[in-house]
Amino acid sequence: MEEKKDIRILAIESSCDETAAAVVKNGREVLSNVISSQIALHTLYGGVVPEIASRKHIEKINDVIQEALDQANVSLQDLDAVGVTYGPGLVGALLVGVAEAKAISYAAKLPLIGVHHIEGHISANYIENKELEPPFICLVVSGGHTHLVVVRDYGEYEIIGKTRDDAAGEAFDKVARAIGLGYPGGPKIDRVSKEGNPEAIHFPRAKVEDAPYDFSFSGVKSAVLNHINGCRMKGEDVVQADIAASFQKAVCDVLVAHAMKAIKDYGISRFALAGGVASNSTLRSMMKEACEQRKIAFYHPSPVLCTDNAAMIGAAAYYEYRKGIRHGLDLNAVPNLKLGER
Ligand code: KG4
Ligand code: ZN
Repeated sequence: MEEKKDIRILAIESSCDETAAAVVKNGREVLSNVISSQIALHTLYGGVVPEIASRKHIEKINDVIQEALDQANVSLQDLDAVGVTYGPGLVGALLVGVAEAKAISYAAKLPLIGVHHIEGHISANYIENKELEPPFICLVVSGGHTHLVVVRDYGEYEIIGKTRDDAAGEAFDKVARAIGLGYPGGPKIDRVSKEGNPEAIHFPRAKVEDAPYDFSFSGVKSAVLNHINGCRMKGEDVVQADIAASFQKAVCDVLVAHAMKAIKDYGISRFALAGGVASNSTLRSMMKEACEQRKIAFYHPSPVLCTDNAAMIGAAAYYEYRKGIRHGLDLNAVPNLKLGER
């Protein structure tokens, strides 16, 4: 019998503030995963400055790719394709990765595969959970997105719920700034919450009328700001840890409730978390418990594969490659690319 050939993909991710490259074998085996984070740089400004992000990507990208090839012990000749995030994201940041991937594709005569960033986040789950296969329900919670997705098959997605305003991670970042924790807020709220009481303050759990899977986080964010103003006006202490823990609980309650409703309504017995907020310790433990009670298999990536990385892009690119998806050298960055569009 003919032996199946291994497929090695070089993947590139530059949609926001991480310059990342990885080599992934057969979609699930990470041979290298190099991430150059710009977080320290953007912290000075309290958030990502797009122009600075693009400039930093262009400075770092060649070294990051070389490092990924070296760590995987491969050269361009050993590769079968180049995968790259082409949207959604910051246009100037995306363009750096796309232009780089096109140059490598042309020079090394490798097929080019453009990948949707969210498809990457979802596919991060395949890397450490070798048994995970579609169909499953995935909650993607990142700095830019909050999507509840039915993964029908590889590359086939039905978005059943999304946020009407702020993304979950964005709410974490804004609340963290308001209580003086700084950027990036998610990991800091996660840490500080461990010293706080999640029942200390009741923040709203928003429902969107006629859209049971949709989310809205602007109300809880405003409630936190009102609470802080109220404390100051009354001369009371602003208890950072209690606010953080109570806010985090309010957000996680909604995320868990909507995910469990989708699991029940769609009759799907596998559930996965994805995106930066998927590394939140409270969200993970609440989802784990909710899934256990319902005998649902629960999956999530390790923290390094939750936040932006290129290994997840390599995993997604592999399944696109197997479907015969190829992009031409006219591939462009699409800042508002929709999931499922090609
Ligand atoms: O997926 P990601 O790296 O970038 C986007 O595609 O947006 O997600 C970054 C987001 C940030 O908002 C960050 O605050 C949040 O993920 N985040 C967390 C945690 N770690 C990262 N939020 C809550 N708890 C965490 N432990
Ligand atoms: Zn992301």
